[in-house]
Amino acid sequence: MIISVFWGNKAMKSINYNEKTKVFTLRTKNSMYQMQVVEYETLVHLYYGADIGDTEASHRIVCLDRGFSGNPYEAGADRTFSLDVLPQEYSGYGNGDYRINGIEVGHEDGSDAVHLRYESYRTSKGKYSLEGLPCMFGTEDEAETLDITLYDRITDLKVHLLYGVFYDLDVITRAVRLENKGEDTVTIQRAMSMEMDYTNKHMDLIHFYGRHTMERLTERLPLHHGVQSVESKRGMSSHQHNPFVILCDKMTSEKHGDCFGFALAYSGNYRCEIEVDQMEQTRLVMGIHPYHFSFRLNTGDVFETPEVIMAYSDCGLGKLSRIYHDAYRSNLIRSKYVTSPRPILVNNWEATYFDFDEEKLFNIAKAAKDIGLDMFVLDDGWFGKRNTDDSGLGDDDNSGLGDWVVNEEKIKGGLPKLVKKINGIGMKFGIWIEPEMVSEDSGLYREHPDWVLKIPQRSLMRSRHQLNLDITRKEVRDHVMKQIFRVLDSCKVDYVKWDMNRSVGNVYSAALPSERQGEVYHRYVLGVYEMMEQLVSRYPDLLFENCCGGGGRFDAGMLYYSPQIWCSDNTDAIDRLKIQYGTSFGYPISTMGAHVSVCPNHQTGRTTPFETRAVVASAGTFGYELDLEHLSSEEKEMARKQISEYKEMEHLVQTGDYYRLSDPYRNHDYVVWQFVSKDKKETVVNGVQLRNEANPHIHLIYLEGLEPEAHYEDEKTGYVYTGAALMKAGIPLPVGVGDYQPIQFKFRMS
Ligand code: GLA
Repeated sequence: MIISVFWGNKAMKSINYNEKTKVFTLRTKNSMYQMQVVEYETLVHLYYGADIGDTEASHRIVCLDRGFSGNPYEAGADRTFSLDVLPQEYSGYGNGDYRINGIEVGHEDGSDAVHLRYESYRTSKGKYSLEGLPCMFGTEDEAETLDITLYDRITDLKVHLLYGVFYDLDVITRAVRLENKGEDTVTIQRAMSMEMDYTNKHMDLIHFYGRHTMERLTERLPLHHGVQSVESKRGMSSHQHNPFVILCDKMTSEKHGDCFGFALAYSGNYRCEIEVDQMEQTRLVMGIHPYHFSFRLNTGDVFETPEVIMAYSDCGLGKLSRIYHDAYRSNLIRSKYVTSPRPILVNNWEATYFDFDEEKLFNIAKAAKDIGLDMFVLDDGWFGKRNTDDSGLGDDDNSGLGDWVVNEEKIKGGLPKLVKKINGIGMKFGIWIEPEMVSEDSGLYREHPDWVLKIPQRSLMRSRHQLNLDITRKEVRDHVMKQIFRVLDSCKVDYVKWDMNRSVGNVYSAALPSERQGEVYHRYVLGVYEMMEQLVSRYPDLLFENCCGGGGRFDAGMLYYSPQIWCSDNTDAIDRLKIQYGTSFGYPISTMGAHVSVCPNHQTGRTTPFETRAVVASAGTFGYELDLEHLSSEEKEMARKQISEYKEMEHLVQTGDYYRLSDPYRNHDYVVWQFVSKDKKETVVNGVQLRNEANPHIHLIYLEGLEPEAHYEDEKTGYVYTGAALMKAGIPLPVGVGDYQPIQFKFRMS
């Protein structure tokens, strides 16, 4: 069947509806997405993948009589129409589709079925937004919105499937808006943000798992029959499983093959479930985790799910990552710093932990100024009574959280005085906060013990001696933010690091009735977003960094508020190779906080060359986290060079294309990566030689993304190569240099 596509009309180019065949076609530069309204107002999914021209893919739906797959009553004698085997766009429980479904709703009579039928659609220019939730934004020239309304006849629940189509960015976003138009209250028990059905595709799942200090490790597994899931129930997106997954063909590699990315812009409990069914079909659903989740909708109430950002590449995983990098940098991250130079900082955490006074801090700031850094960041320990343990055995993190008032015993004269001094030597100042938490030993807890999440009658579960504030409550959010604003208004603060150092636990809010306790996890996340929104709108020029014990909330939701996230509490350059490699699949390099720290490294005890630490940290948002006063004069000289080298390449990190040239899981000799400017005139290849062998092999590395016929000059040697030579003939890595040595090449088009 042929549909007419209005190619000349930009506004119409990405969404089309064929009235006759009832096929919706969404198009981006290199992808196409189709669905169709078929019998009994059922919205089926036809296709997602490469552009297939003007073919409508209804021929892919083949209906047969399948045993034990029932048929809707209205199908009469037709035993071939079954919701159990049809690829659907968004399915409900209780109608004979026994697979994982998108939505489950509890009704007042105790039933939980919801049968969604197509009602209508609307398109609009520009991108839809979601109330209180992070999501991609797009002007009328950048995006179009499709809103398809499905409804349940019995309850009059409306389900809006929202699609944001970004033609140039090659991205389609999805979210669901539920509207209770009926007379009875309905309780949502499961509302996934999307469903995606693949007909007969044998795929692999790539996901990013880990733990505190070892986040986003990469694993690739074949999908198996049954259900597989990637999820978090920790109240945050978690160190353990990142809310970004890739489905790809068996043969897909960095440079070749089909792959599909699904990123959830949400920072709380989530689940991505993938089922391979009896017919070899694959269904993926992604959204808020149904565990401990329910949301009551009275008549007229609306509920919006978080957004999933989808991308497709038929040129392998590298291309898929570059689609996400570009999309997030241009249409997700709102900070003015997203593509402009960021102050290069020194953070005092690994330098001092809690053991500092104003003199020590100022001395680090002075040493930082001396080597050419721009900003001093004061980490944990400046407020309340957060001191070095009296016993001398360690830091006392038992107290202080919640009391956002400077500890004048440590910082004599207070923050304004210190900040003025630091500003006086030409350094900016940044500060650490952890607004979602409280210590039992704090003024806040003593005054408001009921302001924490706590399950009635049960004892509290502590973690790092701290408790989660019940930020589902407005008065709690406002109280904390008021204190923090007082600090930020008292002196010139250019940067804030927002931390979160425990999983959400004791999940129960004293402020909500029993039937709404299933809303706590989600309301907690909405509370975080509201607090962050207050912060960034009050201080639009602030450089805002997210953190959650390193990378426990490294997700697209957080990037809507902050252009960078502390990638991991592990600053070891060698461990970072895997952490940053995994993170690069779904997130721009410029979003990964990465610092040069001291050796032996505090997390691993490993010693690596100073230069190597700088090379690894410059594949991120570069900075230092060590006591600069103790650097030798030779190291200081090296640091000056590192800083000026990073400043020279920062624009590539922020706006360039990124290529993973090796896989640290397979190649144990070296790890290399490459930045290329969008105009292809400059490229930097960096990496680490992991181990050296006697009588070594010659390792050739092959560059990517260059102009084959152009000439490129190696900045160090002055040799000139064609782009084709660098990409096809390769260049040798240095030989005989020892373990953990840095790799650095820079070429410029001549
Ligand atoms: C977390 C952060 C660290 C540091 C400490 C302070 O672990 O990830 O960078 O700020 O908290 O307590």
